[in-house]
Amino acid sequence: MRHLLSAGDLSRDEATLILDTARELAQAGARSVKKFPTLRGRTVVNLFYEDSTRTRTSFELAAKRLSADVINFSAKGSSVSKGESLKDTALTLQAMGADGVVIRHSASGAAHRLSGWVDGSVLNAGDGTHEHPTQALLDVYTMRERMGRLDGLRVAIVGDVRHSRVARSNVLLLHTLGAETTLVAPPTLMPVSVHTWPCSVSYDLDETLAKSDVVMMLRVQAERMQGAYFPTPREYSRRYGLDGERFAKMHDEAIAMHPGPMVRGMEISAEVADSPRCTVTEQVANGLSIRMAVLYLLLGGSESAIGARDAGN
Ligand code: CP
Repeated sequence: MRHLLSAGDLSRDEATLILDTARELAQAGARSVKKFPTLRGRTVVNLFYEDSTRTRTSFELAAKRLSADVINFSAKGSSVSKGESLKDTALTLQAMGADGVVIRHSASGAAHRLSGWVDGSVLNAGDGTHEHPTQALLDVYTMRERMGRLDGLRVAIVGDVRHSRVARSNVLLLHTLGAETTLVAPPTLMPVSVHTWPCSVSYDLDETLAKSDVVMMLRVQAERMQGAYFPTPREYSRRYGLDGERFAKMHDEAIAMHPGPMVRGMEISAEVADSPRCTVTEQVANGLSIRMAVLYLLLGGSESAIGARDAGN
């Protein structure tokens, strides 16, 4: 595996190796072994054309924990404002010796295009409405940790599926790992191509929640709406929001997830967001281990145990 462009590119064995490696790293972190020399001398470029809090900071921290040199590039304040193209920007950064490029871009397919221009590994940190593979990896990691299994797990993904790169990556990865996904959205926020996705579709949230182990709420992405009919926020919340009353109808071990950023009071109530059965902050913490694992395996690692070979402070 040279690049990570799509969750759908991962075989079951490759995905499991990433999850298991992340677990070893998390366990080492719990033993206060936080820094590894694995990527010493390597350079990771974070190339962000869209805003991010979680993904950008955790990729930066992950690369630093592996001792890589890190360049953080944000389109704002760069020569992009003078008309420089993605290709020329990427080639400029490569000339500085980038071994890995983490890219977030508003255009679906940007990460794939980039992989044809640069010599190093490309890691897709979210491309338009297409994919966000490391988000899916940290989500399934969180499910496996909390629920103890992925095979046969029933996952509902709810909300603005049409504009969600998180939904697509999760559906593909959950399918590879043996879980069953149901997408729930208003008809106008369901992708036209959804019948080709390996999952079920429902327009009835209450019916779906009653037979789900995990519910993942998605933010309504108003910034990507281009004429799509959107129910009023009150109507949306009433029919597709997760509040305490609705969550209480799931079984006692069921968990609520959200990739963030959340809009409290819209797709998820504060009561649910702050509940111990809601994994939002765990997902963020797990994202660091997952991104360390992916950088480690793509840029410098092998399949051997990290704890035994590389640990150091
Ligand atoms: N989940 C996620 O991608 O969050 P950020 O936009 O803050 O990176």
